[in-house]
Amino acid sequence: MNKQEIMSRLQNKNLDFDVIYLESVDSTNNFAKGYNNTKNLLVAAKKQTGGRGRYGKSFASPEGKGLYFTLRINMPPQNPVFFPLIAAMAVSCAVSSLCGIELDIKWPNDLLYKTDDGYKKLCGILVEASGGSASYIIVGIGVNINNDITDFPDELKNIVSSLKIISGKEYDLTGILCETVDEFMRLMYISSEELLEEYRTRLLLGVDISFAQDGTIYKGRAAGINENGNLIAKLENGEEIIIQSGEIGIL
Ligand code: BTN
Repeated sequence: MNKQEIMSRLQNKNLDFDVIYLESVDSTNNFAKGYNNTKNLLVAAKKQTGGRGRYGKSFASPEGKGLYFTLRINMPPQNPVFFPLIAAMAVSCAVSSLCGIELDIKWPNDLLYKTDDGYKKLCGILVEASGGSASYIIVGIGVNINNDITDFPDELKNIVSSLKIISGKEYDLTGILCETVDEFMRLMYISSEELLEEYRTRLLLGVDISFAQDGTIYKGRAAGINENGNLIAKLENGEEIIIQSGEIGIL
């Protein structure tokens, strides 16, 4: 992968942005935050030495095995609360059309694959707002593509997977990157109603979940999303709870 190849294979020229490809970086999100230019940015790396996940977790980013990239977008047309949803949709659509593998979205933005041994995570997304006065949004996306199970740390081996582990095939990283970015650009410019309608079709609904709210752990069922992209959980007693943030577990 290199900058020229990425630029030539992107179809959607809606947004003018700098493209940077790095052999190694601590985190493409960190790089995007420190990038001293006002243009929109796509930065991808062959490996990350300090890939970051949500809630202070790390993101395993072995060299050449997965996609590790960040889009930094100035003053987005869509409401920023929809960006985690847009990113998850973009990866799920790209993987579906290029690899024929259907990944489900675990609200708000993890991508999972259903196996006989439960759901396995293939993609994580870390959306961060700009600090200070600059108004841009940082969308970091990590996808496990050509990883073997031995590429993951022991503590993750039971809960993660990759496209190669699922299908036995290796995939072209640049193709998936460019298709994801193109999908992202398409989704960024559709109405929030259309976006939520598409998102619902890929969202894991009807599954039993656990979640925490105000210090209480609840069990319920993922029942739907509202117009703000919040998850609606239905408890056993029929009560509905709106989940605006945090992580849900699949039971
Ligand atoms: C998660 O699963 O909690 C989110 C993982 C996000 C990983 C991506 S890889 C590219 C970008 N750079 C980072 O340091 N993190 C994101």
